[in-house]
Amino acid sequence: MIVGITTAVRIVVLPGDGIGPEVTEAARRVLDVAAGRVGLRLDFVEELVGGASVDAFGVALRPQTLRLCKTADAILFGAVGGPKWDDASPQSTLRPGSGLLALRKGLELFANLRPVRVDPAMVATSALRPERVKDVDLLVVRELTGGLYFSKPKRRYSTPRGDAAVDTMRYSTPEIERVAVRAFELARRRRQRLCSVDKANMLETSRLWRSVVSRVAERYPDVACSHMLVDAFAMDLLRRPQAYDVVVTENLFGDIVTDEASMLAGSLGMLPSASLGGGTLGLYEPIHGSAPDIAGKGIANPIGAILSAALLLRWSLNREDAAQVIEQAVSRVLADGLRTADIAPDGQPAVGTTAMTDAVIEALG
Ligand SMILES: NC(=O)c1ccc[n+]([C@@H]2O[C@H](COP(=O)([O-])OP(=O)(O)OC[C@H]3O[C@@H](n4cnc5c(N)ncnc54)[C@H](O)[C@@H]3O)[C@@H](O)[C@H]2O)c1
Repeated sequence: MIVGITTAVRIVVLPGDGIGPEVTEAARRVLDVAAGRVGLRLDFVEELVGGASVDAFGVALRPQTLRLCKTADAILFGAVGGPKWDDASPQSTLRPGSGLLALRKGLELFANLRPVRVDPAMVATSALRPERVKDVDLLVVRELTGGLYFSKPKRRYSTPRGDAAVDTMRYSTPEIERVAVRAFELARRRRQRLCSVDKANMLETSRLWRSVVSRVAERYPDVACSHMLVDAFAMDLLRRPQAYDVVVTENLFGDIVTDEASMLAGSLGMLPSASLGGGTLGLYEPIHGSAPDIAGKGIANPIGAILSAALLLRWSLNREDAAQVIEQAVSRVLADGLRTADIAPDGQPAVGTTAMTDAVIEALG
């Protein structure tokens, strides 16, 4: 055994479009410093994805970029899309989002973990009353490689009475079972409560979803399992968000309810995510999109991306210590009153992306 040689960890960085490059640069800087503090050496390899890749290479994700990601330890992702590419058909590889879907599918990242925590310093500025959001700490586990976003047929076609379009929602038992198992395992390590969200009164896929989750629940008698319809859940999430621990749901529902949940935390710019498969390889990205309305202005909130870097350390590199260092640094900066424009109370001063990132790096200690 060779002692004293540390192997570098390889991180593929895919900044993407709009504010993607701005927030990914922030996350990369924080990640590099935090990793260095615990003696980890990171090698970053940057590649184009989304609209930037369409412009340079004519496709949203090149096969060699996917291959590079497969051999990496983790992927740091920004966001893709923008008005420039919006006219491409949803099926087209010219559509920036197709690059992200191909990555998720190609790497079999079937579980998207979206933690929703309301930082104590943000309680007063949340869109909801302080007593509703205090101590909110839930984890949405969104199925990421099935459902409406992937199932076929999916197309637009002409009829004598005008255009028509079809999307398909398909789920198989193994697809539901693996994400349910992941969610139960996570619930076991948290507060042992799991709520499965579906639309079983209307959708056949949801009825299958509910029966598979119920069967998996029998293997986890220590976890209290409940089921809710997605419309009632969307309401209850605002009524009593503290009631939830782990929430597991299918792809589209998870996409929507976590944007809703971001308002508990103060802004879409605050929430991170981790996309995981069977191994340790993961893709880490803020839950927001490319925000073309503020791109290039230097005002994007980098916290969702920075907290995604913390998740990368936790889930792909097994460095809980370094992950917590980042999370505590973000908390400290918020407690000091620093705010980007999206989370600054009306009339209060706001800092830009770089100043917020510098402050987090400073707070790493
Ligand atoms: N994962 C992804 O790459 C992803 C996810 C969602 C949307 N998109 C794409 O992003 C583009 C824009 O979509 P959208 O406008 O519906 O959603 P969006 O998330 O980009 O923006 C919604 C609103 O939130 C604000 N916002 C988002 N992130 C912010 C941040 N970090 N700091 C401050 N404000 C922030 C934006 O300014 C905007 O007002 C579209 O092309 C869409 O397809 C990509």
